[in-house]
Amino acid sequence: MSAPDIVVRNGTVVGPGSAVLADVVIADGSVSALTEPGQVPPGRAGREIDASGRLVLPGGVDPHCHVGFTSGAFTTLDEYPQATAAAVHGGTTTIVDFAIPRPGEVPLEVAVAQQAKASRGWCDSALHGCVVEWDDSVPGQLRELVAMGVVTVKMFTTYRGETMATDDAIYQVMKELRGLGGMAVVHCEANHIIEEQQERSAAGGHIAARYHSETRPAIAETASVSALIAMAETLRTGVYLVHQSSPACLELAAAARLRGVAVFSEAVTHHLVLDDGKYEEDHPERYVCCPPLRPRPMVDAITAGLWNGSISTIGSDHCCYDTRQKTSVMHDVRTMPNGLPGVELRLPVIFSEFVHKAALPVQRFVELCCTTPAKANGIWPQKGELLPGSDADLVIWDPAATRRIRAADLHMATDYSPYDGMDVTGWPETVLVRGQVVLDHGRLADAAPAGQAVRAQPGRIRAAMPLA
Ligand code: URP
Ligand code: ZN
Ligand code: ZN
Repeated sequence: MSAPDIVVRNGTVVGPGSAVLADVVIADGSVSALTEPGQVPPGRAGREIDASGRLVLPGGVDPHCHVGFTSGAFTTLDEYPQATAAAVHGGTTTIVDFAIPRPGEVPLEVAVAQQAKASRGWCDSALHGCVVEWDDSVPGQLRELVAMGVVTVKMFTTYRGETMATDDAIYQVMKELRGLGGMAVVHCEANHIIEEQQERSAAGGHIAARYHSETRPAIAETASVSALIAMAETLRTGVYLVHQSSPACLELAAAARLRGVAVFSEAVTHHLVLDDGKYEEDHPERYVCCPPLRPRPMVDAITAGLWNGSISTIGSDHCCYDTRQKTSVMHDVRTMPNGLPGVELRLPVIFSEFVHKAALPVQRFVELCCTTPAKANGIWPQKGELLPGSDADLVIWDPAATRRIRAADLHMATDYSPYDGMDVTGWPETVLVRGQVVLDHGRLADAAPAGQAVRAQPGRIRAAMPLA
């Protein structure tokens, strides 16, 4: 073995199915070996990092992160430098962003422009393309997207006049992606049901942020998930369902998997931790997201999916709006900016709430937050797991560190956190991206951002199909 650049010694190295005391040997930005502690003689590596008493996790992979995202009259407040600085402060080393065309824009061009921003990141980024309308140019654009390493394509069944795609368009895109080794990624809320309910709510004077959850009922999500699974099953292809907030949706997907359909069910941090009681508190607008926060019994029911396998991945659905933006039209949820800032706290909040407090195995935490997000996006084993040959993206995690969350201490380009005041246990201490220390005991490195665009591999996704 040639002299390593770094050895991370004596940590508990965690994978999706293992947690072993080991040293991680790093050379040329990759993991070159995992060895029993002490195999590399002292002084041989360029740098030694002591991880005694710490977990050594693969860097987090956030499969759902909006950067510089425009919806309606509002644009989120971060770009790559800020969003990725926040990501690494929270232990995430790869984000998967979206290239969402605005009316009149072309999906491929938007993706090319968004991918070019990766080098301004403190960590690496992959990309979901996005199709809103089907026309004759779409098959060619999808081929080019796949050729540039963008193999997942997001579509929305809601947000009429913005990003909503018809069922027909979604079906055609899924069919094309099947032949290209890609996969559709879908926001499922049946728009006709939502518009009907919004009209009813407005007629009753219930259209302000405080009433957000009644305007987007869970049945709209279930109806849409059912339709999407039927499309995937008919086409014999996979589908990735984002931000699943209701147990009925998880059950539909679990049943489909038993029939052999490759359905990925993503949960996001806020749906797993917060409930619709937030809409009755002082700042309901801060929690307006789609789908909305759900009643506590539904939250408890979906969290069971962390243990029983019906949740495949955890994302953040990061949307960095601030209080001024959230309050400006809070009298009408139909024109409000939707989404919550979350890229920084996904790992700490999930670790604390479920690993620390509820004994979720740390291996399962890694599977949900790192490995399966990478597999579902065609970027494993480069990302998402510490294997010989993988990028040396890793987090030295102190499982006993405690923090009280305060928005002012965070690094996202906003002035609030949905988790303000929450006490958490477990925190990232030191973070490496491709063998470079980007966060050293909580301090961002004194270097320039050097993020790379991660090219997803077509055909890799199906191999990662969750079976149950
Ligand atoms: O409320 C949300 N989730 N806003 C962001 C866009 C989306 O639907 O993912
Ligand atoms: Zn969405
Ligand atoms: Zn989203």
